[in-house]
Amino acid sequence: MDTYNVLLIGAGGREHSIAWKISQSEKLDKLYIAPGNPGTAKIGKNVPLDVSDFDKVYDFIENKGIELVVVGPEGPLVDGITDFLRERNIPVFGPEKNAAMLEGSKEFAKEFMVKYNIPTADFAVFSSLDYDDAFKFIQLKDTYPIVLKADGLAGGKGVFICNSEEEVKSRLLAIKKDKTLSEAASKLVVEEFMEGEEVSVFVISDGHTSHIIHNAQDHKRIGDGDTGLNTGGMGAYSPAPILTEDLLVRIQSEIIEPTITGMQLEESAYTGILYVGLMITEEGPKVVEYNCRFGDPECQVILPSLNNDLLDLIIAATEQRLDEKSIQTDDKYRCCVVLASEGYPVKYEKGKVISGLDETDEDILVFHAGTTHKDGKILTNSGRVLNVVGSGKTLRGAIENTYEAVKKINFENCYFRKDIGHKGLKRVSNL
Ligand SMILES: Nc1ncnc2c1ncn2[C@@H]1O[C@H](COP(=O)(O)OP(=O)(O)O)[C@@H](O)[C@H]1O
Ligand SMILES: [Mg+2]
Repeated sequence: MDTYNVLLIGAGGREHSIAWKISQSEKLDKLYIAPGNPGTAKIGKNVPLDVSDFDKVYDFIENKGIELVVVGPEGPLVDGITDFLRERNIPVFGPEKNAAMLEGSKEFAKEFMVKYNIPTADFAVFSSLDYDDAFKFIQLKDTYPIVLKADGLAGGKGVFICNSEEEVKSRLLAIKKDKTLSEAASKLVVEEFMEGEEVSVFVISDGHTSHIIHNAQDHKRIGDGDTGLNTGGMGAYSPAPILTEDLLVRIQSEIIEPTITGMQLEESAYTGILYVGLMITEEGPKVVEYNCRFGDPECQVILPSLNNDLLDLIIAATEQRLDEKSIQTDDKYRCCVVLASEGYPVKYEKGKVISGLDETDEDILVFHAGTTHKDGKILTNSGRVLNVVGSGKTLRGAIENTYEAVKKINFENCYFRKDIGHKGLKRVSNL
């Protein structure tokens, strides 16, 4: 059998879980992770590459005989790493720049959805020079809440749900003052607020054929009960009980198929993982946003459920052979709790010694997100530090197993949400 030398790009919990899953493949020869983290170092070889320097990445690929590149985060995809490497005949799993625009530009995504009749919230777009017009537009509309979104990548910090005219006014001023944000908001999308429950569906596509891998719900706010500031994600669980078989069929036919076909018609065939963020409204599922890669921490609950060989699927996707494959997932629930540094997402300390990493049960997975090695110890090194993933036959069981494991891991000022998965519990009968 052909085996592959693989380079995985990224450094978070998502990439640790991708590395963990790929490392189980019969098709893997050597796995390199750039730059990786102390978790991925146990699975493959970390390489300290600056992944925004595509020439350096290419040199490494040539030197090590890399045969496939898997890209974890959105940044390099939106910057065109796939195009750059494909021009040099290197197979890459991840969309090209034009296709990654589905995440890279909210304006592009909204106009694409209108063109292909994909259900989403009504919207209008204003350039940064026309914030006055945006304000007048919102004033005339006079319906709250209303959603303001920076067009470009803003690391989850570019969306504002405003409840009054005053809030809109001060928010527009704040965006203008913030240098990074005003860059992402050189165009501003003003969007109708959708009422409902959110859920994420993960799709693998080779440009023509696509399959749903699985679904999950994440928890973006820092505090229990979805309160406080937005974060990169404080936890996730899978699958989401709100997604009935009927809803999944609708999502497939009303959203996923037209998206994949639409991108073909735009001559930007979509290969890679497509993350569809949905709001389940009274009128049915509507798209909140697209992302061009796995979610973090949703990936950490999705991949352990996948029975397929992930590398085999990825290879099939890069060779336009996904029609030969079908997705198999197990029937367990999974829950992921993010252990964070107290104070995240604002201000927090780093360098705390982590204990108990080897004390969790065998069926618990601990993925590293922001950790570092020092003198044989593992230390905290970021806001989101570790992802603890447990499973169970029921959602309740999965949640309990995960929180039991969380108790065994410690570091000074460790913070985590206590209610991951509770939204889903409300919907299942086997309480
Ligand atoms: N039109 C909308 N109606 C209701 N909530 C929304 C709407 N758009 C965004 N949101 C909320 O804001 C969050 C962030 O918006 P999203 O478009 O996913 O941007 P990003 O992930 O790039 O920050 C969503 O997860 C959702 O909770
Ligand atoms: Mg989002």
